[in-house]
Amino acid sequence: MMRDFALIHLNGVRREIRGREALMMLAEWLRKEAGLSGTKIVCAEGDCGACTVLRSSCQPSAQPISQLSFEAMNSCIATVAQMDGTHIVTVEGMQCGDHLSPAQEAMRRCHASQCGYCTPGFVMAMSAMLERHDQADARTASNYLTGNLCRCTGYAPIIEAALTVRATETHSVARRYSDPQSIKDSVASTKLSMLVEYEGTKLFAPVSLREAVTFTSINPGTRVLGAATDIGVHVNKGKPLPTSLISLHLIPELYETKLTRSGVTFGSRVTLAEVRRVSEDVAPEFARFLNLFASPQIKNVATLVGNIANASPIGDTLPFLLIAGGEVHVASRQGAKGVVRKRKIPMTDLYVGYKKLSLEPGEIITHISFDRTGANDVMSLCKVTQRKDLDISAVSGAFSLTLKGRRGAGGKGKAAPNVVSARIAYGGVAATPVRMPEVELALCGELNQARIESVALLIAGSIKPISDVRGSASYRRVAAANLFRRFGNEVLHG
Ligand SMILES: Cc1cc2nc3c(=O)[nH]c(=O)nc-3n(C[C@H](O)[C@H](O)[C@H](O)COP(=O)(O)OP(=O)(O)OC[C@H]3O[C@@H](n4cnc5c(N)ncnc54)[C@H](O)[C@@H]3O)c2cc1C
Ligand code: FES
Ligand code: FES
Repeated sequence: MMRDFALIHLNGVRREIRGREALMMLAEWLRKEAGLSGTKIVCAEGDCGACTVLRSSCQPSAQPISQLSFEAMNSCIATVAQMDGTHIVTVEGMQCGDHLSPAQEAMRRCHASQCGYCTPGFVMAMSAMLERHDQADARTASNYLTGNLCRCTGYAPIIEAALTVRATETHSVARRYSDPQSIKDSVASTKLSMLVEYEGTKLFAPVSLREAVTFTSINPGTRVLGAATDIGVHVNKGKPLPTSLISLHLIPELYETKLTRSGVTFGSRVTLAEVRRVSEDVAPEFARFLNLFASPQIKNVATLVGNIANASPIGDTLPFLLIAGGEVHVASRQGAKGVVRKRKIPMTDLYVGYKKLSLEPGEIITHISFDRTGANDVMSLCKVTQRKDLDISAVSGAFSLTLKGRRGAGGKGKAAPNVVSARIAYGGVAATPVRMPEVELALCGELNQARIESVALLIAGSIKPISDVRGSASYRRVAAANLFRRFGNEVLHG
């Protein structure tokens, strides 16, 4: 049995969406087909937040659900079919009877809108904040609004609206839209595979890994869709949607997070927001670093596996995974009977050229695992960007040292710390992210100013960056060495 439609609820109304419409980008579909033009499209690449909507999670689960939970996402870079099994709430669904929602009212009261083009996006981002926080402090408000741009009002009144708005029971989106039918449909849709097709393009969503690898083995060149935050941008820039697509959103085991004493394993459907949350205990520096990754609208849907498989040399998570014992778990079909063959690839062997992975044809990444940060390890993850938030790195660095002796003990008259082992990786300095075993070796021993300087020079001499819009090769060389100098000096002097 197979469905030929994506099943969604839209502002409380059930919709079955087939063919051409299922393969449209959600924002386009909302405006052109569903007649909901409150959702705006400005950048069409996930950068401005004008297209923000709320989406309930679609996680195939054996447990009964009593209430949906909603998060903000950008609707411009994901297809309608990927919304299968979820409830979408747009700005049109926020008003309660004759009353504006708290976020709408706060924006009005604080005069936080001029041309109004960005306003629905801010309202939706603020509403997502109110789903989790009755009232926000300055940090929470700015975190939730990181993904939204306004070009004419100025941010002060918008921030004031976010700081003065209060959540109310009656307006909670989860309460208003968690009707039994919506939940029943959401669960039912996860039990049946989906295949939507239009003019030679097909998107398949199987309910099992076995079905998934069978599909990729008989459809060479199939692209796996995570949240499409990479793929969606390329499509909006004019590249055609790949003709054979697979979405893994109906496969329960790909949502799992497994913690062990030594590390953690995330399924390929686990979002970056969830990875960040879990990493607070397992790898705190990684969790801190993920705060600088994109916006909530992106992190709520984008996957860690998508970042890895995208294989960009400036993918932010890759240097960390290279120094943290990262391993990708892959699956493919073996033999005509459809047996699922599984294997693991160390992150250090995954990248074989610019945007090239060592995956075999038909292989799908199912999980990613990495080690916990050791109690005696000092780790630092950093990136060089033109602005702090929502920017792509020119260079990124990941450093981890196992020390004997105290961090910061390098002052006058004190014994310097001893580096027992070192792990160093960079992004943005070659066609692939790189780990640096020779540099690591050179760093072992007493940590002092002379060693920091010689290692910094060794780094600058051993990388081969390219020049592009984000920075020249020489800039990248200097930046890479300076990132290390800063880390080394922090460890030495505290
Ligand atoms: C506004 C914006 C800001 C961003 N900011 C950052 C940032 O700060 N740092 C950063 O590093 N990146 C950033 N990105 C890039 C992007 O969000 C990340 O790379 C993200 O992790 C991709 O995840 P996804 O699930 O959306 O992947 P998708 O776009 O769905 O897929 C990306 C690639 O991975 C492949 N893939 C996905 N899942 C699998 C699988 N299970 N098996 C095999 N292949 C698979 C796809 O086929 C595709 O080639 C940003 C993107 C946008 C639009
Ligand atoms: S239109 Fe700018 S993020 Fe979607
Ligand atoms: S009010 Fe005009 S862009 Fe924000």
